[in-house]
Amino acid sequence: MERRILVIGSLNMDMVVNVEQMPLRGETIMGKSLAYVPGGKGANQACAAGKLGKNVTMLGCIGDDGNGQALRKSLAAAGVDVSYLVVCPGVPTGLAVITVDNGGGNSIIVITGANSQCSPEVIRAHEKLIADSDIVVLQLEIPLEAVAEAVRLAKAHGKTVVLNPAPAPDSLPDELLRSVDYLTPNETELARLSGMPTDTAEQTEQAARSLIEQKGIGAVLATVGSAGALLVTAETAQLVPTIKVQAVDTTAAGDTFHGGFVTALSEGRPVLEAIRMGNMAASISVTRKGAQTSIPTREEVEALL
Ligand code: RIB
Repeated sequence: MERRILVIGSLNMDMVVNVEQMPLRGETIMGKSLAYVPGGKGANQACAAGKLGKNVTMLGCIGDDGNGQALRKSLAAAGVDVSYLVVCPGVPTGLAVITVDNGGGNSIIVITGANSQCSPEVIRAHEKLIADSDIVVLQLEIPLEAVAEAVRLAKAHGKTVVLNPAPAPDSLPDELLRSVDYLTPNETELARLSGMPTDTAEQTEQAARSLIEQKGIGAVLATVGSAGALLVTAETAQLVPTIKVQAVDTTAAGDTFHGGFVTALSEGRPVLEAIRMGNMAASISVTRKGAQTSIPTREEVEALL
């Protein structure tokens, strides 16, 4: 039977500016275009899981404004259950200012807005929703105390916990990490959390292994850009390569990977197959512009697989 996915996290309206190359500090440059695109790490992951599978619910906070409505609409169109979105009057919906250069690279500044209202109280008020889910997916664009409370409740109810530590702080509480089944950093986030370099494949594996040994995390699934994803457990390390594509915008590639990964897990597929689904979904997303606008359908991913 298909398992239910609950994504708890942020929703942002992305203000995307395309440029030839990133401005230097103190420099003024001309932008090529401006677009408003639904985003936010939490919402993107829910949207990807919704487009690729079913049984996905999003818990998060939006403002009582047009951006909040647009985000709700985008998730609903992707098949996500949006009935648990909390509307916070008088607070603007989260916003992200994103610059994308000609090579598809980006820089992102998040103005947290209503995401900051996603408190431990909000999480506790939704304990039943957590208890009724099977896989709980989190990131770090809502207050850390709320993430910790959600992880605690999810574990107490015996759920599979996937934590995408983005944006990465210098460290995370040991108690929180102990309850995580899959920690899913990119190389930069892994370096910051482990305090170790991740410049080579060996270093990345060592950094992941150190987190497992020292923090008791179930598995570290590190996304390693165009190389794919590296799964490290106490017993093994396995690189799952991805395909080469021409990237135009890497925004939300990691989020799309998560959507594919948890969708396949929810269907009871083996973990390596789930990683392959994440890889293929992400590889399509980087060939398209924007966050939620770049997420592929299930048919497109299956065609690649
Ligand atoms: O991961 C990409 C996302 O990060 C963007 O959509 C932006 O909103 C920020 O949350």
